[in-house]
Amino acid sequence: MAWTKVASLKALKAQQKMKVEYQGVSVLLAMVHNKPYAINNQCPHMKASLYEGTIEDECVVCKAHGAKINLTNGLIERKAKILFISMPTKKTKTYMLKVEGDEISIQ
Ligand code: FES
Repeated sequence: MAWTKVASLKALKAQQKMKVEYQGVSVLLAMVHNKPYAINNQCPHMKASLYEGTIEDECVVCKAHGAKINLTNGLIERKAKILFISMPTKKTKTYMLKVEGDEISIQ
């Protein structure tokens, strides 16, 4: 499968997170320990934009109901909660990235 250039590493380092489109899907790029990671931007709980969330350690925390999703593997570190009730929250898709110079490419 071909690699697709989606962002500048310099720009991502400056912003720490950004939204890009890949094959018609919104993807969140985020820096974790100075390395870029890519994850489906739709929260696996109720599809809120993870871009609107906050980055904590190697995770993104969804602004809507607090699901905490590991950016490196898509696993759920903390389920979404509504009124103190934990909601089923599935693992989400991550993408492979390649960095060449200042170019970040996705596959
Ligand atoms: S939509 Fe993200 S936690 Fe509910």
